[in-house]
Amino acid sequence: MKKYCIITLIILTLNGCQTSVDSFNNDSNVINRKVDSLLSIMTIDEKIGQMNQYNGFWDVTGPAPKNGDAKFKFNNLKKGLVGSMLNVRGVEEITALQKIAVEQTRLGIPLIIGNDVIHGYKTLSPIPLAEAASWDLEEIENSARIAALEASAAGTNWTFAPMVDISRDARWGRVMEGAGEDPFLGSLIAAARVRGFQGDDLSKHNTIAATAKHFAGYGFAESGRDYNTVDVSKNTLYNIILPPFMATLDAGVRTFMNGFNELDGVPVTGSLFLQRDLLKGEWNFDGFVISDWGSIQEMIPHGYAKDGAHATELAIKAGSDMDMESHLYIKNIKELVESKKLDIKLIDDAVSRILRVKFELGLFDDPYKYLNAEREKEVLYHPDNQKGVLEMAKKSIVLLKNKTNLLPLKKENQTIALIGALANDNNSPLGNWRTNSDNNSAITVLEGMQAYPKNKLIYKRGADVNLNKGGVVKFHEKVIINENDKSGFSTAKSAAKNADVVVMVLGEDGFQSGEGRSRTSIGIPGVQQELLEEVYKVNKNIVLVLMNGRPLNINWADKNIPSIVEAWQLGTQTGNAVAQVLYGDYNPSGKLPMSFPRSVGQIPIYYNYKNTGRPGPKKEIFWSHYNDEVNTPLYPFGYGLSYTSFEYSNIKIDNKNLTPDETLNVSVDLKNSGNYSGKEVVQLYIKDRFASVTRPVRELKGFEMVSLNPGETKTINFEISESLLKFYTANETWESESGFFDIFIGTNSNANLKESFELIK
Ligand code: NOJ
Repeated sequence: MKKYCIITLIILTLNGCQTSVDSFNNDSNVINRKVDSLLSIMTIDEKIGQMNQYNGFWDVTGPAPKNGDAKFKFNNLKKGLVGSMLNVRGVEEITALQKIAVEQTRLGIPLIIGNDVIHGYKTLSPIPLAEAASWDLEEIENSARIAALEASAAGTNWTFAPMVDISRDARWGRVMEGAGEDPFLGSLIAAARVRGFQGDDLSKHNTIAATAKHFAGYGFAESGRDYNTVDVSKNTLYNIILPPFMATLDAGVRTFMNGFNELDGVPVTGSLFLQRDLLKGEWNFDGFVISDWGSIQEMIPHGYAKDGAHATELAIKAGSDMDMESHLYIKNIKELVESKKLDIKLIDDAVSRILRVKFELGLFDDPYKYLNAEREKEVLYHPDNQKGVLEMAKKSIVLLKNKTNLLPLKKENQTIALIGALANDNNSPLGNWRTNSDNNSAITVLEGMQAYPKNKLIYKRGADVNLNKGGVVKFHEKVIINENDKSGFSTAKSAAKNADVVVMVLGEDGFQSGEGRSRTSIGIPGVQQELLEEVYKVNKNIVLVLMNGRPLNINWADKNIPSIVEAWQLGTQTGNAVAQVLYGDYNPSGKLPMSFPRSVGQIPIYYNYKNTGRPGPKKEIFWSHYNDEVNTPLYPFGYGLSYTSFEYSNIKIDNKNLTPDETLNVSVDLKNSGNYSGKEVVQLYIKDRFASVTRPVRELKGFEMVSLNPGETKTINFEISESLLKFYTANETWESESGFFDIFIGTNSNANLKESFELIK
């Protein structure tokens, strides 16, 4: 019998030593009793160990050679002073580490293995912002499921996802990792992702614990500069930032991650208000909180902690349960407890939370349940997973413009010039957040288009996007943008000149967005814009396919280029998805989850803004506007076209009054008035005309994906209840307020079919 079983038998009389991987008893009372009994025999050092998470230091056979840090970490692992590791991957490596934790330490407490499984493990889905553009909650859940299947088969049992930070700032590099600007859509997507990762039973070998991050406010970094100060009102915090976190709680998320930012003058890692009072208090969260990477130590440069010991004390009091790579808990907790600066009860609380999640995952039942080499081989890159991410990728594409119906492309007898380095790039479409996957593993647009052989396809690079070595940017490298080399322009132009249609794939390198990758100008980078304008001089039949990790500034293209397709970074199956959409085998149905600004000067720009006391447009000067630009975005939130056209009519409401115990019904007719079958996301917005605190001009409160054949009409119904109208009021509570509301239904956030009703309480 293995040592872990002996320990289990001694202290956990309830389950015994089971061999079946999925038979764990997940009853919370039982788990709590197990946690208590284990806690009662732990030394203070072993408790501190559980609160300590290390980054990988292992090269399969042992600690990384010539690395003092690795030896130090390895020794701590052997002493039972490590509760978790991140950035260790694969069955072989993780088995070796788990064996030490389970078979060589006194109590044999298994490690929980965390990784950034953000949009896939090996097989990559579109970046999260792109997935959000699908507005397809089932597909998003399935995408997270695929990620969990692969991650769990490769030994990971905990992902640091979903990132549920709302952001209104396209300059911020991490908008690619979220669901965009809207708390309603963001909440539904956040919950779908948690369900996808965690499944219906966390103790199964193929489900993993999820993390809601970054708690809270990280998406509001001033001027879009990553890690920058956050200064938001209570109104914005409660009504915009917190709802997606609350949605993950409702979905049963098991961990939260704090962040690098401050909020109201306090680094969130040390925020008693956020973590202890709100999350663990008011919201009754019984999972655990992990710090962000080094964020406990960062309270020193923030000017909030005087030294490491102080930072430790502040973080623990605030409710940060596990230390990711600050190495401060392991160093300071014992002394802080002995000197009575920290109450041991706080440590017990943190450790209990961590152990609880380990029990829930079934790790005590079988610490090797995620470690089956055969399963790993079978599941990674499985064809079913490829199929799943391809579906997700097609649904993530947004058609921004198709003025002369260049799209869909004809499948025969056409000469197509395909231009742009990104068209033949198998790395950028993977995005930046794919540390578990393989570089250069995306299907390129060129490859995808080659699957339509009855046209003549001529590929010309035109211009490089980056000038990094070999054209490949590494995780820790800066992208060196090609600002001057136009040597490929002339051959690209010659190819374009004689083509029926030119498809240009332009945009950002995969590493121009993501953590630490903010930008002040968000146009099409480098010489690519000029390439577009030069090619346009010889052939105006251009389909512009954008590849990017954030909303871009594309005014010139919008004015001149007949067809524009937003293809983001679509992951492993990028090329197939793009080609199938361009050729009409999939009719695009995506809708923007973030407004596209006309200029950086408009940022932050979002559809659910406040009216102000001086709304416009007015002719005179003294109203809220710019003197050199209109207020509206280039493409609004919720915007996206189809190859067919849809007509909205006949909005009807069945009651002009709403009371808290009734619902009212509002309906609209939707007709497919074009020539293709297609899907439309019907959107419902509500405006609260006046309230105890000012309310946005409108807020998304419902949507439905509707499929229609040409000529077909359907009536779409939405049910409105009082609970949909709740917000964080002047009473500092979630409630609705009596009064008048307007409803708008339509194809995007400018929807203008209108009805109204009164809430009577
Ligand atoms: C820092 C990021 O902010 C966080 O989201 C991520 O999970 C950790 N690094 C671990 O890689």
